[in-house]
Amino acid sequence: MNVLGIESSCDETSVAVISNDELKANLISSQDFHSKYGGVVPELSSRAHLQIVTPLVKDALREAHLNINEIDIVSATAGPGLIGALIVGLTFAKGLAYSLKKTFIPVNHIEGHIYSGFLMEKKPDFPYLAIVVSGGHTLLLLVKSFTEIIKIGSTVDDAAGEAFDKVAKMLGMGYPGGPKIQKAATLGDRNKIDFPVAELKDHNNFSFSGLKTSVLRFIQRNYPDKKIPRIDLNDIAASFQYAVVRALLKNTRKALKNFEVKSISLVGGVAANSEIRGAYIDLAKEFRKKIVIPRVEFCGDNAAMIALRGLKLFEAGYRFEFDYAPFPALPESIYSE
Ligand code: KG4
Ligand code: ZN
Repeated sequence: MNVLGIESSCDETSVAVISNDELKANLISSQDFHSKYGGVVPELSSRAHLQIVTPLVKDALREAHLNINEIDIVSATAGPGLIGALIVGLTFAKGLAYSLKKTFIPVNHIEGHIYSGFLMEKKPDFPYLAIVVSGGHTLLLLVKSFTEIIKIGSTVDDAAGEAFDKVAKMLGMGYPGGPKIQKAATLGDRNKIDFPVAELKDHNNFSFSGLKTSVLRFIQRNYPDKKIPRIDLNDIAASFQYAVVRALLKNTRKALKNFEVKSISLVGGVAANSEIRGAYIDLAKEFRKKIVIPRVEFCGDNAAMIALRGLKLFEAGYRFEFDYAPFPALPESIYSE
């Protein structure tokens, strides 16, 4: 079975090929030009996807040593994401599948992340606890199989990645903020400032907007002229990052006590963060659980996870019509609570 996967939900165009359960290509083209605007400009993103998707498909097929006619399934991200960006990849996939008389499988981007641990040699064992930390979502999920996911917590305001991006902006570090904060944090003292971790009584929900505001207040109070010395920037970055780690671990611990799982899988763009990765490896040791964190290439947006999810949906018997519409937001109904 040969699967072509296409990802275009935000600022990465990616095309991947899985052939007989083996990943043969995973090409990622990042739209770096958004950094000068301090965030992703949707219209520019759609145009860039449109320009790059065809050559990227050709390159991925070449790398996989496959002819387009040898593809059995074309899968693409259908949402959540920027609507114009989603339309590019999804419509391209539909057109390709339609003209070649192949199977078209739309994929939920978050489900792509959730199962991205299966791209690794060491795979999660069901049931597992998935912690999805991306630019748009922060979710704690009980993953029972390839078709059953139960939501046990989510953010009530900002996503973890969004908090990284907003704090980086306050510190004048640019976009995307995660890697920049991580770099500065390695030179700072994480115990320097005690930023708060939200205390939510209900369920296993997260909140990052209070943390973001407290970083803002700290900056306003201590640097009224907005000039922050480099050494202080590093300490703020390290202390903020440590607060995110503590917030994530607090709810994950609670979930591990309340739900019987075999593995833990940390996924999504923020899972690229080395301090967060290290903290989860330690947590898994403490609870004696198998831990699967995808390598960095599979944490950020990539089509390998979309091709894999498309294949798993196909194997589970799912079939879709060509009138399947892209969805900008995450339909709550996908996950039973
Ligand atoms: O999963 P992803 O690539 O896109 C979405 O589906 O949202 O996640 C992007 C997010 C951004 O907010 C980015 O700042 C964050 O992941 N990120 C990181 C790191 N690398 C990317 N956050 C913290 N540390 C990193 N090293
Ligand atoms: Zn993503």
